[in-house]
Amino acid sequence: MGVLLSVENVVGGYEFESLGKKIYVDAVSNVSISIDDNVVFGIAGESGCGKSTLLKIMYGYIISPLKVLRGNIKIFTSNDSYIDVLSISSELRRSRVWWKEISWIPQNAMNVLNPVEKIKDHFVEILTTHERIDKDDALKIATEYVESFGLSKSVLDAYPHQLSGGMRQRVVIALALLLKPKVVLADEPTSALDVVVQRGVLQILLNKQSELKNTVVLVSHDMGVHAMVTNKLAVMYAGKVVEIGRTEDIFEKPLHPYTKALIDSLPRIGDKTLRTGLAGSPPDLRNPPPGCRFHPRCPFAMDICRKEEPPMIEIEKNRFVSCWLYIRR
Ligand SMILES: Nc1ncnc2c1ncn2[C@@H]1O[C@H](COP(=O)(O)OP(=O)(O)OP(=O)(O)O)[C@@H](O)[C@H]1O
Ligand code: SF4
Ligand SMILES: [Mg+2]
Repeated sequence: MGVLLSVENVVGGYEFESLGKKIYVDAVSNVSISIDDNVVFGIAGESGCGKSTLLKIMYGYIISPLKVLRGNIKIFTSNDSYIDVLSISSELRRSRVWWKEISWIPQNAMNVLNPVEKIKDHFVEILTTHERIDKDDALKIATEYVESFGLSKSVLDAYPHQLSGGMRQRVVIALALLLKPKVVLADEPTSALDVVVQRGVLQILLNKQSELKNTVVLVSHDMGVHAMVTNKLAVMYAGKVVEIGRTEDIFEKPLHPYTKALIDSLPRIGDKTLRTGLAGSPPDLRNPPPGCRFHPRCPFAMDICRKEEPPMIEIEKNRFVSCWLYIRR
């Protein structure tokens, strides 16, 4: 089909009062991304750059103090019809869109399982609410279903706290995929797990993606995870998307100086030189710098970078970058 999820000129952030002053945190600043069907699309960037906020907006989970000031999120159901995630009523979003068309694995999701409900109750609730089947049938479906996530049937009778972190995360992923949504938004699904468990969980996510041929949007601050599992990648810096491309191309030849710094900081097998991280820290999004938001940390910053924001341009097919180094003036 082509484009499945389209993020169009989205501006959103957190608006609240502190010490009698109105504050706005500019967390997602004019972001546009087109995401195809049947891909694992990564979103990378340092802590605080707006990854989770962008995912919440994609899901239409807009709860105060988060506000969307502008933009659209569209899930295409065919070439010319789409669900307008931010404009439909919240009732429709809950009953027709969430779980069925798009699901969301929030950051630290394993803590969101209801601690006083058994795992089976979580499955039964989703199935009986959305699929009009009775409790017994729902339980039968859940029993067969969990095994394909590397979980034994006995987890259904457990409470969340009785499971290991890896098992809880498998449960959360299984719940997100239960109604076979076209889009799964996964926010740092493995960052709380140790490396070995992390691999197993990522593998499940990948196997299921290739089985269901749906689209997974995977947020991770870990470029190693993106190199391992994503097909396409958007790199965010301080609320902006600065580069988009095929993951392979980005790792082979990063264009944006920030992307380059992220990749350079990854350890390489056999290389004993000390990897230095990027100097400085990301800006305060209550008052971001003018021009290119990366300019205070960029070794290539020019005069124009401090004054004018670089537009996002497609410099090759499917390669987008927002940096004055690539724009003839
Ligand atoms: N509830 C909130 N109220 C006010 N500001 C918030 C809130 N949640 C997030 N922010 C701010 O919005 C910006 C983006 O945060 P966000 O959580 O989207 O970043 P992130 O890229 O997901 O970070 P991490 O990698 O640490 O999860 C940050 O400056 C953060 O401090
Ligand atoms: S626009 Fe300028 S400051 Fe920003 S990344 Fe490019 S060269 Fe660096
Ligand atoms: Mg986050």
